[in-house]
Amino acid sequence: MSSDAAPKAARSSSLPSANPFERLAELIADLTPGMDPVVMTIGEPRHAVPDFVAPILARSIGDFSRYPNIRGTDGFRTAVGAWLDRRYRLGGMLDMGRGILPLNGSREGLTFAALGARDYLAKVAAPPAVLMPNPFYQTYAAGAHVAGAELVALDASAGTGFLPDLETLSPDLLDRTIAFYYASPANPQGVAADLETWKEVIRLARRHRFLVIADECYSEIYRDAPPAGVLEAAHALGEGFANVVSINSLSKRSNLAGLRVGFAAGDAAFLDAWARFRGLAAPQVSMPLQAVAAAAFADEAHVIENRRLYNAKFDVAQRLLAPLFGAVVPPAGFFLWLDVARWGGGVEVTRRLWSEAGVKVLPGAYLALDGASSNPGADYIRIALVDDVTTIERALARLVATLGD
Ligand SMILES: Cc1ncc(COP(=O)(O)O)c(C=O)c1O
Repeated sequence: MSSDAAPKAARSSSLPSANPFERLAELIADLTPGMDPVVMTIGEPRHAVPDFVAPILARSIGDFSRYPNIRGTDGFRTAVGAWLDRRYRLGGMLDMGRGILPLNGSREGLTFAALGARDYLAKVAAPPAVLMPNPFYQTYAAGAHVAGAELVALDASAGTGFLPDLETLSPDLLDRTIAFYYASPANPQGVAADLETWKEVIRLARRHRFLVIADECYSEIYRDAPPAGVLEAAHALGEGFANVVSINSLSKRSNLAGLRVGFAAGDAAFLDAWARFRGLAAPQVSMPLQAVAAAAFADEAHVIENRRLYNAKFDVAQRLLAPLFGAVVPPAGFFLWLDVARWGGGVEVTRRLWSEAGVKVLPGAYLALDGASSNPGADYIRIALVDDVTTIERALARLVATLGD
């Protein structure tokens, strides 16, 4: 570990050898499910696709014959910009021409934004570093890899409030940082940064000249209060949206994970440069899909219904799990992140739940890099509450019966 290390930071210059789902398949390959299987591993929304999607696709079908512009349609950018303005009270300050770019879902944008940051910032300090939380969404590692940067994974465990501790970051490390993947609401823990924390992340980015790549794809899946956002914090600080890009999509907000439409919004100078690169390299977003997205961002009714459905499932989870786990409901997202250390940790419990109860969950260790002393996900399992409430209730009751013995 080099001298500018943040305490409890894990470092890597290579990609994880396999994705968490492949590792899980190996882990349980020798077992048979003890009951009819319930799969609670993948964060794939299963609520209904909104009604307005099919008619819009039918109306705009002819546009599938056309090559879309990399910058997106005016209709797309206006709808996204208006939504961001309403959601984060931006006072019309976001540049609707240059400050918004369509993406093929957030994942590809997250991957390639670090490369965009490296080229845009042209930092001389070497080697470039990319920061991210640990546990983390695996694409951040791909982003660091593509950008040829050292990946520095910052402990985001119970001890740090499940968000990276900004105090531990040394100036030397920050000086050579090109991008900080900051996930809020975080997957898997479901915590969200408050406005002050976002401001501090942005202050660091401006002082040390790096890009905040804010992964906000769970921003609309919350329990009570809408989480603060990076654009909101940048607006509150002044200096426009410099050093900040918010990445979001329709996958979670509108149950449209298969549509593959998202956006990047924020720093117009960065997005200009990145759009030039994307104009050479990236797949554009089809115009009929942009038309669907424009309608989706103009509508809140389906998002409110979505939250109602998730909240009902979290109510069931809290009722069933309280005797074993106490409070389990995170402020946002649709995952349970359960500390199962007293049953032997995430790997052990995953095997047991599959072989005894037919319930497939993900070991938390597979979502994290090994840290300085331990893996911050090792004590946990992640459970996606994406199925209907009856299935969730059945699966969680089995979990309680299995672990409660
Ligand atoms: C934290 C996080 N970020 C980004 C994504 C990617 O979402 P999409 O590419 O569908 O927008 C996911 C998907 O599960 C996620 O959990």
